[in-house]
Amino acid sequence: MSEIKKTALITGASRGIGYATAIEFLKHGYNVAIIDIFEDRDKVKNELKEYGNVNYVVYDLRKTEGIEDAVKEAIKPFGRLDALVNNASSGAHDYLLGISIERWDSYMDLALKSMFFVSQAASKMMIDCDSKGAIVSLSSLRADRADGTHMLYSVAKAGIAAMTRELAFSLGRYGIRVNAVMPGYVRTEMTEHYITETPGFIDQLYSLQALEKVLDAKDMAKLIYFLASDENTSVTAQCIKADAGIGTVELPAKKAEHA
Ligand SMILES: NC(=O)c1ccc[n+]([C@@H]2O[C@H](COP(=O)([O-])OP(=O)(O)OC[C@H]3O[C@@H](n4cnc5c(N)ncnc54)[C@H](O)[C@@H]3O)[C@@H](O)[C@H]2O)c1
Repeated sequence: MSEIKKTALITGASRGIGYATAIEFLKHGYNVAIIDIFEDRDKVKNELKEYGNVNYVVYDLRKTEGIEDAVKEAIKPFGRLDALVNNASSGAHDYLLGISIERWDSYMDLALKSMFFVSQAASKMMIDCDSKGAIVSLSSLRADRADGTHMLYSVAKAGIAAMTRELAFSLGRYGIRVNAVMPGYVRTEMTEHYITETPGFIDQLYSLQALEKVLDAKDMAKLIYFLASDENTSVTAQCIKADAGIGTVELPAKKAEHA
């Protein structure tokens, strides 16, 4: 009997963590369905096709009208769904007094609301095909930290953490595992400016992290794949820091000078 070819749906996979995650799933033999706002679907498909089967749907996740149809269209060629990676979002630097109702709505529509409705649509499909699959969502260390500079981003990422736990308890009876990853600093197009615009940024990072390396999208992709794959038989309802240790450091940071 031939083994079933699994399918992963990844939102926001035209670059960054989502793109690296698409390659990771493809290398493990999955079909990959992508939903992304970036319109040059041929460019992304051509780059990824050497790794396996990709279906790419152009859709703006700031809107929820038609979101279930976009999910259905994305997985249509593959006929089943085994993993969802809720990844698409954008950075946001906002202060309390500057946030209008319109700004709140448009940011939350992408960063939180769409993640919920994509998860809802994906859950129905995983239940229908009895895939006993997994959902992995991109939260952030900022979900449980504050410095007054990222109001909307932090609220959305904390919402994702809460949503993860609720989904895990809603879907556990179907054998579906649900987790979130909380990255620290990961070098992508979204965050490259921290390195290029802040002198000494990497030295400062190393003084706060346990590991003296700049994390990249591939580091996140490996963890996301593990959490979504059948190798993960026990972890659910968790928000896992993937941060080289920065979220655990005792402040003010003065790392031990020797082991
Ligand atoms: N890079 C980091 O340091 C870091 C840290 C913590 C959390 N995260 C989270 O990880 C995820 C990925 O981050 P990244 O650094 O790879 O970001 P990125 O900006 O490089 O990639 C974001 C992807 O989402 C897509 N996207 C953006 N707006 C969209 C929309 N309206 N509709 C559909 N697709 C849209 C983009 O086209 C792109 O493919 C995000 O949720 C981010 O908040 C990243």
